[in-house]
Amino acid sequence: MKKDLSNIKKAKYLLDKNHCVAIPTETVYGLAANAYSNQATSKIYKLKKRPKSNPLIVHYSNLKDLEKDCVINDNFQKLYKKFCPGPITFVLKLKRESKISRNVTNGKKTLAVRFPKNAVTINLLSHLKYPLAAPSANIYTQLSPVSKKDVEEEFGNKIKLILNGGNSRIGLESTIVNLVNKPQVLRLGGIDIKKISKVLKKKLNYTKNRSIKVPGQSKFHYSPGIPIRLNVKTCFHDEAFVLIQKRKKFDRNHFYLSKNKNLKEVGKNLYKTLRKIKKLKFKKIAVEEIPNIGLGQAINDRLKRASKS
Ligand code: TXA
Ligand code: MG
Repeated sequence: MKKDLSNIKKAKYLLDKNHCVAIPTETVYGLAANAYSNQATSKIYKLKKRPKSNPLIVHYSNLKDLEKDCVINDNFQKLYKKFCPGPITFVLKLKRESKISRNVTNGKKTLAVRFPKNAVTINLLSHLKYPLAAPSANIYTQLSPVSKKDVEEEFGNKIKLILNGGNSRIGLESTIVNLVNKPQVLRLGGIDIKKISKVLKKKLNYTKNRSIKVPGQSKFHYSPGIPIRLNVKTCFHDEAFVLIQKRKKFDRNHFYLSKNKNLKEVGKNLYKTLRKIKKLKFKKIAVEEIPNIGLGQAINDRLKRASKS
């Protein structure tokens, strides 16, 4: 506990001085910086090798702070009440008087915002005078990190501090909903869109060919850098075989995301397992069919993107 507190102090010290600090969240770890500072946020892009055209998500711990930067509406209120803190990101109208850095929005008049559910990060945010811009803490297009160790692997000693908040409980990025006009899902993620539809009393769909582009959703994202075959029943001997239910036969190249098709477990273990397979130097990956329902839709979305690299 003491260590936690001193790390929070250290994180605040570094962030106040415009450095980046990696933070734990329930979805994936983020690479955070002061969202009001041009200098701090430009470091995020440099470290991640991310194009400046791809805007960042800003993390808050309370509504009062959010209202300094964004215009909130009824749909937001409903979803906030039901799901926050939690794995959902809202795109809202940016207030003219907001101090959010242009680097964060890429000059857009909208802002993506989120209330993460991780005690360490909530504690950190409560000590700061600014919200935190934080994309996933991985090099651009690579697998997102779900533990402190994963972030260390991505960046080595290039970042001064990685706060430890344990393994990410969800293991997949947040669901992004655009609430500026008619609600629209921009990215599948930790919350099933059916649950969001239910709260808004309106059927929402996720369409890939949207008018609003989410640049980070390019097909090259979430890549372990190895070819992936999806929906397979049997694998070749040189493939890593990713499974979601127990098989009788034990094999060295079998990797379980779950033993009984539990989709929460599958989501939580996905990036961790792909990272492990990559480290073991497999050249190919085969994945068993994953039911395309609930969280399964977000899991399949990530696998499809990864398989196109
Ligand atoms: O779970 C998450 O959302 C994690 C954790 C760290 O919070 N963050 C995350 O950030 O996944 P990132 O940068 O890897 O993905 C953010 C996505 C990008 O695809 C970006 O294009 C989109 O959000 N985005 C950001 N601002 C936007 C805006 N104003 N309108 C539409 N899309 C936006
Ligand atoms: Mg990302």
